[in-house]
Amino acid sequence: MSLSSQQIMQIALELAGLKQVPADSGIHVTEDKVVDKVLAGVDIGPAELLLAKHLECDLALAHHPTGGPTSINFYQVISNQINQMTSVGVPEEEAKEAIAELQASRKHQAHGSNYDRNPSFARTLGMPYMNVHLPCDIIGRDILANAAKSRLVDGNGTISDVLDGIASLPEYQDDISQPVCMLGSPDNSAGRIFTATAGGTNGGAAVAKTYFKYCIDTLIYFHIAWDQLKKLREDPSLEGKNLIVLGHMPADRVGINPLLSEIEKNGVEVIRISGL
Ligand SMILES: [Fe+2]
Ligand SMILES: [Fe+2]
Repeated sequence: MSLSSQQIMQIALELAGLKQVPADSGIHVTEDKVVDKVLAGVDIGPAELLLAKHLECDLALAHHPTGGPTSINFYQVISNQINQMTSVGVPEEEAKEAIAELQASRKHQAHGSNYDRNPSFARTLGMPYMNVHLPCDIIGRDILANAAKSRLVDGNGTISDVLDGIASLPEYQDDISQPVCMLGSPDNSAGRIFTATAGGTNGGAAVAKTYFKYCIDTLIYFHIAWDQLKKLREDPSLEGKNLIVLGHMPADRVGINPLLSEIEKNGVEVIRISGL
């Protein structure tokens, strides 16, 4: 059995419950090839594309956006954070305000980037190349959110319990990266927990403060920039609030593994590199 790139994208959309390919995902190079062997990684650039060729793979499958429209239009998927915020009672206007700076800066950054470097390399090499970002993050979000609450008793527990719940996932076993409490304390009560992932990238300090304002006690991010974390730590009004940072690679694997398993079920060989 084998698959096409289009079929792999369709499997990802179905697992995530999406009808359309989101702006941060796409098929960059297709040679209308039948795919029997995939090189899959969180980041796939020129070096990994050469490796894919060397290993006689039919497709290089990345997670993070890799260029072309997925880089230029990446900022659009940050809008997914608006629905996440309104789901816990944040007014829509306030949610839009919270992501405005982040979204504008990512749009600006992409506009100035060499969006064609990776796709042109793959085209010239003749290596089929695609990336699946938001669908995998959506698949992973439910799993991570359930794991975060798995050690609570009647919804009650500490930050330590939340960390233990996340770390119990197979993707965290024996991994050098583990979930970390970066704001607050492991002894704090977890209170109301929200997993703010699958929004393109983390919402930084502005989005975190918005969740905390609307009664979220423990927020879960994939990652956070140092300057944004400092803004949270230096804010005295956030006493008792908690930020858990998942650890980027194991958390990304939680969402990517279900897709790779499904691909393997179709008889396609998957070689995992670059964080997988
Ligand atoms: Fe991800
Ligand atoms: Fe990621």
